[in-house]
Amino acid sequence: MNVPIKTRAQIESIAPYVLGQSLEDIKQELGISHVYKMSENENTYGSSPNIKKSVIKSLDSLHLYPDGAVRELRANLAHFYSKDPSEFILGNGSDELIRLLTRTFISEGDEAVMVDVTFPRYQTNVIIEGGTPVIVPLVHGVHSLQNMKKAITNHTKMVFICNPNNPTGTIVGKDELLDFIEWVPANVLVILDEAYYEYVYTDDYLESLLLLHKHPNVVVLRTFSKIYGLASLRIGYGIAHPMIIEELLKVKEVFNANGLAQIAALAALEDQEFIRECSDKNASERKKMEKALDQLGLTYFPSQTNFIMVDTKKSGQHVAFELLKRGFIVRSGHLLGYPSMFRVTIGKPQENEAFIEALAQCMIGEE
Ligand SMILES: Cc1ncc(COP(=O)(O)O)c(C=O)c1O
Repeated sequence: MNVPIKTRAQIESIAPYVLGQSLEDIKQELGISHVYKMSENENTYGSSPNIKKSVIKSLDSLHLYPDGAVRELRANLAHFYSKDPSEFILGNGSDELIRLLTRTFISEGDEAVMVDVTFPRYQTNVIIEGGTPVIVPLVHGVHSLQNMKKAITNHTKMVFICNPNNPTGTIVGKDELLDFIEWVPANVLVILDEAYYEYVYTDDYLESLLLLHKHPNVVVLRTFSKIYGLASLRIGYGIAHPMIIEELLKVKEVFNANGLAQIAALAALEDQEFIRECSDKNASERKKMEKALDQLGLTYFPSQTNFIMVDTKKSGQHVAFELLKRGFIVRSGHLLGYPSMFRVTIGKPQENEAFIEALAQCMIGEE
């Protein structure tokens, strides 16, 4: 039925986000008792055990509004990164910070440069505000900053660089990114989405926080959803010059970072040993997965994250369905702009071994 209320033109052009089925539905539909969820890039090792204690302790205060200024967490983040609390803003996931950035800075007709394919929320939020996404293709799964430079005009308000990029897992080289930031006009925001920052295992990665003083047009986004394992609580943060943060604070909902999320994030941030362990284990599993994929004769983008985008050279959707029948949920590439590929989240050693075995069966079945 058509609802007789006209939607804003911008909203009409947005395709709905395709969410995966629930685990229970999948089990029932396929008649299987166990499924491995390897589709959302969550931390397979969960979150720090310290978090549970803090959250349980805070359950008596559910009737109270949270601290709208998120003072303690901003102070602790500032201490952790040797910065000032005025350089931080918390959000309902880093997803919300993307929305706050476009809400605050994009006016009708402004352009925002981004790659294809990348995290889809940049494009959606720019469109919602009446801006124009200017799309630059990835080159072998990697941002081409040279081509992004060419796409910047007098109308450009912001540039999104997803580093590492979702869904390809690739990073932009350190010198290339530094050169780009030095080159970009000071009235263009450079938004570095570093949701997978803690998984990066190479020296060729720019430590962007060191640039913020010299480049007040740079905004860095990070999250507690990925390696910190708090995806369900929804908390992420932006780091930028206090002038930028002040503008974003005007636009945010007063209580956008919920109380349990704040408590959990404080405990999570404290347990850096857990983060290091997860990052180490992930890097080692990533290597093993890559080797196993090599042995299967499959190619993939070089990942610095907890996921890998694999080329089946056939229908990624079909292989994803074959994997699903064997109890492994991956994200099919047809939803991500790469029809012959799928994206798989790196799991624990045993899960990965079982996954590779299932993938090998699927690929033989495909011959
Ligand atoms: C690149 C990237 N940015 C941002 C987000 C949003 O994360 P959250 O809102 O959970 O912090 C995600 C989540 O998948 C992501 O992959």
